[in-house]
Amino acid sequence: MKIGIISDIHANLEALEAVLKSLETDKVDRIVCLGDVVGYGASPRECCEIIMSVCDVCVIGNHDAAITGKMDYSYYYDAAHMVLDWTKTQLSDACREYLSALPYHLEYEGILLCHGSPVDAQSFEYIFSIEQARTIIPHFENLKPLTLIGHSHLFKTFAYIENEVNDVLAQKFGLRRNYKYIISSGSVGQPRDYDSRAGYGIYDTEMRTFEIKRIEYDVEKSANRIISAGLPSAFAKRLYMGL
Ligand SMILES: [Fe+2]
Repeated sequence: MKIGIISDIHANLEALEAVLKSLETDKVDRIVCLGDVVGYGASPRECCEIIMSVCDVCVIGNHDAAITGKMDYSYYYDAAHMVLDWTKTQLSDACREYLSALPYHLEYEGILLCHGSPVDAQSFEYIFSIEQARTIIPHFENLKPLTLIGHSHLFKTFAYIENEVNDVLAQKFGLRRNYKYIISSGSVGQPRDYDSRAGYGIYDTEMRTFEIKRIEYDVEKSANRIISAGLPSAFAKRLYMGL
Protein backbone atom coordinates (compact mmCIF):
# COMPACT_ATOMS: atom_id res chain seq x y z
CA MET A 1 0.00 0.00 0.00
CA LYS A 2 1.20 3.49 -0.86
CA ILE A 3 0.47 6.16 1.74
CA GLY A 4 0.61 9.84 0.84
CA ILE A 5 1.86 11.89 3.79
CA ILE A 6 0.93 15.54 3.99
CA SER A 7 1.70 17.98 6.79
CA ASP A 8 1.63 21.66 7.70
CA ILE A 9 -0.88 22.74 5.09
CA HIS A 10 -1.31 26.05 6.87
CA ALA A 11 -4.46 27.11 5.05
CA ASN A 12 -2.70 27.21 1.68
CA LEU A 13 -5.42 26.05 -0.73
CA GLU A 14 -3.37 26.32 -3.92
CA ALA A 15 -0.54 24.19 -2.47
CA LEU A 16 -2.97 21.62 -1.09
CA GLU A 17 -4.84 21.27 -4.39
CA ALA A 18 -1.59 20.86 -6.30
CA VAL A 19 -0.35 18.20 -3.87
CA LEU A 20 -3.62 16.26 -4.06
CA LYS A 21 -3.46 16.28 -7.85
CA SER A 22 0.10 15.00 -7.69
CA LEU A 23 -0.90 12.29 -5.19
CA GLU A 24 -3.49 11.12 -7.71
CA THR A 25 -0.75 10.71 -10.31
CA ASP A 26 1.34 8.88 -7.70
CA LYS A 27 -1.60 6.49 -7.26
CA VAL A 28 -1.49 6.45 -3.47
CA ASP A 29 -4.03 4.26 -1.70
CA ARG A 30 -4.47 6.45 1.36
CA ILE A 31 -3.59 9.94 2.55
CA VAL A 32 -2.68 10.85 6.13
CA CYS A 33 -2.14 14.32 7.59
CA LEU A 34 0.37 15.20 10.31
CA GLY A 35 -1.29 18.40 11.53
CA ASP A 36 -1.28 22.20 11.20
CA VAL A 37 -4.15 22.32 8.75
CA VAL A 38 -4.64 26.03 9.56
CA GLY A 39 -2.60 29.09 10.54
CA TYR A 40 -0.55 31.58 8.42
CA GLY A 41 -2.63 31.15 5.24
CA ALA A 42 -5.91 32.60 4.00
CA SER A 43 -7.98 29.48 3.21
CA PRO A 44 -8.49 27.70 6.55
CA ARG A 45 -12.09 26.59 5.98
CA GLU A 46 -11.46 25.30 2.45
CA CYS A 47 -8.35 23.40 3.52
CA CYS A 48 -10.04 21.93 6.56
CA GLU A 49 -12.99 20.72 4.49
CA ILE A 50 -10.64 19.07 2.00
CA ILE A 51 -8.61 17.38 4.75
CA MET A 52 -11.84 16.10 6.32
CA SER A 53 -12.88 14.52 3.04
CA VAL A 54 -9.62 13.12 1.64
CA CYS A 55 -7.55 12.05 4.65
CA ASP A 56 -7.91 8.68 6.25
CA VAL A 57 -6.56 10.07 9.52
CA CYS A 58 -5.06 13.30 10.84
CA VAL A 59 -3.29 14.33 14.05
CA ILE A 60 -3.50 17.74 15.66
CA GLY A 61 -0.83 20.39 15.11
CA ASN A 62 -0.01 23.30 17.40
CA HIS A 63 -1.92 25.80 15.22
CA ASP A 64 -4.98 23.52 15.16
CA ALA A 65 -4.68 23.16 18.95
CA ALA A 66 -4.41 26.93 19.33
CA ILE A 67 -7.59 27.78 17.42
CA THR A 68 -9.61 25.10 19.22
CA GLY A 69 -8.63 26.39 22.67
CA LYS A 70 -6.43 23.38 23.46
CA MET A 71 -3.25 25.40 23.57
CA ASP A 72 -2.40 28.84 24.89
CA TYR A 73 -1.05 30.96 22.04
CA SER A 74 -0.92 34.28 23.87
CA TYR A 75 2.90 34.14 23.71
CA TYR A 76 2.96 33.74 19.89
CA TYR A 77 4.44 36.70 18.04
CA ASP A 78 1.88 39.32 17.00
CA ALA A 79 1.51 38.39 13.32
CA ALA A 80 0.98 34.66 13.97
CA HIS A 81 -1.37 35.48 16.84
CA MET A 82 -3.41 37.79 14.60
CA VAL A 83 -3.84 35.11 11.91
CA LEU A 84 -5.00 32.57 14.51
CA ASP A 85 -7.59 35.06 15.83
CA TRP A 86 -8.76 35.64 12.25
CA THR A 87 -8.79 31.89 11.49
CA LYS A 88 -11.21 31.31 14.36
CA THR A 89 -13.72 33.63 12.67
CA GLN A 90 -13.44 31.78 9.34
CA LEU A 91 -14.08 28.19 10.32
CA SER A 92 -17.44 26.44 10.16
CA ASP A 93 -18.71 24.57 13.22
CA ALA A 94 -17.96 21.29 11.44
CA CYS A 95 -14.34 22.32 10.89
CA ARG A 96 -13.94 23.47 14.47
CA GLU A 97 -15.35 20.19 15.76
CA TYR A 98 -13.13 18.17 13.44
CA LEU A 99 -9.94 19.99 14.43
CA SER A 100 -10.72 19.92 18.13
CA ALA A 101 -11.37 16.15 18.05
CA LEU A 102 -8.02 15.33 16.39
CA PRO A 103 -5.70 13.14 18.50
CA TYR A 104 -2.18 14.20 19.51
CA HIS A 105 -0.82 10.92 18.20
CA LEU A 106 -2.12 7.72 16.70
CA GLU A 107 -0.89 4.43 15.39
CA TYR A 108 -1.73 3.76 11.78
CA GLU A 109 -0.69 0.58 9.93
CA GLY A 110 2.02 0.11 12.56
CA ILE A 111 3.34 3.65 12.03
CA LEU A 112 3.20 6.28 14.77
CA LEU A 113 1.86 9.62 13.54
CA CYS A 114 2.26 12.85 15.52
CA HIS A 115 3.00 16.51 14.84
CA GLY A 116 6.18 17.01 16.91
CA SER A 117 8.37 14.75 19.03
CA PRO A 118 6.73 11.40 19.84
CA VAL A 119 8.08 11.46 23.42
CA ASP A 120 5.40 13.88 24.58
CA ALA A 121 3.17 14.67 21.60
CA GLN A 122 1.23 17.37 23.47
CA SER A 123 4.33 19.50 24.00
CA PHE A 124 5.02 19.89 20.24
CA GLU A 125 8.82 19.69 20.57
CA TYR A 126 10.75 20.06 17.34
CA ILE A 127 12.97 17.36 15.88
CA PHE A 128 14.94 18.66 12.92
CA SER A 129 18.58 18.78 14.04
CA ILE A 130 20.81 15.83 14.87
CA GLU A 131 21.13 17.23 18.42
CA GLN A 132 17.34 17.15 18.83
CA ALA A 133 17.27 13.68 17.29
CA ARG A 134 19.84 12.45 19.86
CA THR A 135 17.47 13.34 22.72
CA ILE A 136 15.28 10.45 21.50
CA ILE A 137 18.02 7.80 21.93
CA PRO A 138 17.04 7.01 25.58
CA HIS A 139 13.54 6.21 24.27
CA PHE A 140 14.79 3.80 21.59
CA GLU A 141 13.05 0.75 23.08
CA ASN A 142 9.67 2.50 23.00
CA LEU A 143 10.05 3.88 19.48
CA LYS A 144 7.95 2.36 16.71
CA PRO A 145 9.90 1.10 13.67
CA LEU A 146 8.60 4.21 11.89
CA THR A 147 7.39 7.53 13.32
CA LEU A 148 6.16 10.24 10.94
CA ILE A 149 6.14 13.83 12.16
CA GLY A 150 5.65 17.38 10.84
CA HIS A 151 6.07 20.72 12.65
CA SER A 152 9.51 21.82 11.39
CA HIS A 153 8.31 22.20 7.76
CA LEU A 154 11.55 20.45 6.73
CA PHE A 155 12.31 17.04 5.28
CA LYS A 156 14.53 15.28 7.80
CA THR A 157 15.11 11.58 8.34
CA PHE A 158 16.79 10.15 11.41
CA ALA A 159 17.75 6.47 11.55
CA TYR A 160 18.22 5.00 15.04
CA ILE A 161 20.06 1.88 16.06
CA GLU A 162 20.75 1.21 19.75
CA ASN A 163 22.76 4.20 21.02
CA GLU A 164 23.29 5.82 17.69
CA VAL A 165 21.38 8.09 15.32
CA ASN A 166 22.30 9.15 11.80
CA ASP A 167 20.59 11.47 9.38
CA VAL A 168 19.58 10.16 5.97
CA LEU A 169 19.96 12.60 3.11
CA ALA A 170 18.54 10.65 0.14
CA GLN A 171 15.34 11.72 -1.62
CA LYS A 172 14.17 8.12 -1.79
CA PHE A 173 15.43 5.36 0.46
CA GLY A 174 14.58 1.95 1.86
CA LEU A 175 14.02 1.44 5.59
CA ARG A 176 16.46 -1.09 7.01
CA ARG A 177 15.20 -3.86 9.28
CA ASN A 178 17.27 -3.26 12.42
CA TYR A 179 16.77 0.49 12.42
CA LYS A 180 13.98 2.67 13.72
CA TYR A 181 13.13 5.87 11.90
CA ILE A 182 11.74 9.30 12.67
CA ILE A 183 10.86 11.09 9.45
CA SER A 184 9.82 14.73 9.31
CA SER A 185 7.74 14.95 6.16
CA GLY A 186 8.09 18.58 5.02
CA SER A 187 5.27 21.04 4.51
CA VAL A 188 2.55 21.39 1.90
CA GLY A 189 1.74 25.04 2.49
CA GLN A 190 4.80 26.75 3.97
CA PRO A 191 8.11 25.01 3.14
CA ARG A 192 11.10 26.43 5.04
CA ASP A 193 14.10 25.08 3.15
CA TYR A 194 14.38 27.96 0.66
CA ASP A 195 12.51 25.88 -1.92
CA SER A 196 9.07 27.37 -2.54
CA ARG A 197 7.61 24.16 -3.96
CA ALA A 198 5.02 22.29 -1.92
CA GLY A 199 6.35 19.17 -0.23
CA TYR A 200 4.90 15.80 0.74
CA GLY A 201 6.02 12.22 1.26
CA ILE A 202 5.08 8.77 0.03
CA TYR A 203 5.60 5.64 2.10
CA ASP A 204 5.25 2.26 0.45
CA THR A 205 4.37 -0.29 3.16
CA GLU A 206 5.34 -3.33 1.07
CA MET A 207 8.61 -2.03 -0.35
CA ARG A 208 9.35 -0.15 2.91
CA THR A 209 10.51 2.86 0.93
CA PHE A 210 10.03 6.54 1.70
CA GLU A 211 10.15 9.17 -0.99
CA ILE A 212 10.29 12.96 -0.75
CA LYS A 213 8.24 14.79 -3.38
CA ARG A 214 8.26 18.48 -4.35
CA ILE A 215 5.90 20.16 -6.78
CA GLU A 216 5.26 23.64 -8.14
CA TYR A 217 2.02 25.40 -7.27
CA ASP A 218 0.54 28.86 -7.85
CA VAL A 219 2.45 30.74 -5.12
CA GLU A 220 1.28 34.13 -6.40
CA LYS A 221 -2.40 33.22 -6.08
CA SER A 222 -1.93 31.94 -2.56
CA ALA A 223 0.15 34.98 -1.54
CA ASN A 224 -2.43 37.36 -3.02
CA ARG A 225 -5.17 35.70 -0.99
CA ILE A 226 -3.21 36.49 2.19
CA ILE A 227 -2.87 40.15 1.18
CA SER A 228 -6.55 40.42 0.12
CA ALA A 229 -7.69 38.96 3.45
CA GLY A 230 -5.77 41.70 5.24
CA LEU A 231 -3.39 39.23 6.88
CA PRO A 232 0.28 40.17 7.54
CA SER A 233 2.15 40.50 4.23
CA ALA A 234 5.18 38.71 5.72
CA PHE A 235 3.24 35.45 5.41
CA ALA A 236 2.70 36.13 1.69
CA LYS A 237 6.35 37.07 1.06
CA ARG A 238 7.80 34.02 2.74
CA LEU A 239 5.86 31.71 0.39
CA TYR A 240 7.91 33.05 -2.55
CA MET A 241 11.12 32.36 -0.68
CA GLY A 242 10.17 28.97 0.73
CA LEU A 243 10.89 30.22 4.19
FE1 LIG B 1 3.40 24.17 11.13
